Amino acid sequence: MLYSEKVMEHFRNPRNVGEMPDADGIGEVGNAKCGDIMRMYIKVDKKNQIITDAKFMTFGCGSAIATSSIATEMIIGQPISKALELSNKAVVEALGGLPTHKVHCSVLAEEAVKLAVKDYYDKNGIAYDEELFKKANLPCEH
Ligand code: FES
Repeated sequence: MLYSEKVMEHFRNPRNVGEMPDADGIGEVGNAKCGDIMRMYIKVDKKNQIITDAKFMTFGCGSAIATSSIATEMIIGQPISKALELSNKAVVEALGGLPTHKVHCSVLAEEAVKLAVKDYYDKNGIAYDEELFKKANLPCEH
């Protein structure tokens, strides 16, 4: 089978879909080639820098939906610094793998999380290393 049970399950029943009007950080990334867009919202408890909620919206393929769905589950309840360490590899592993030509979709999820954190840092005057936010910018192959 092309997709793992977990991928199919998150695709059919994605978690944390929607907008978050009072988000503390928003990250939006797009892929110029396939035109897919991912937007990630985070809510942060400013006292202890914990992500208390996350939501996503995407115009993307099934893999983009499944990876962002599981990415929200992986960052909710985590310190914001931990969310920054979330790699697309960890997301793919948590889903039980993705076909090679779909791995780039998981990069959108990773980048959207990172940009939401960056937005939060910017809005709150928190200093950070720009290197942490270098875009992977992988091509999207349909
Ligand atoms: Fe473009 Fe999946 S995100 S094909």
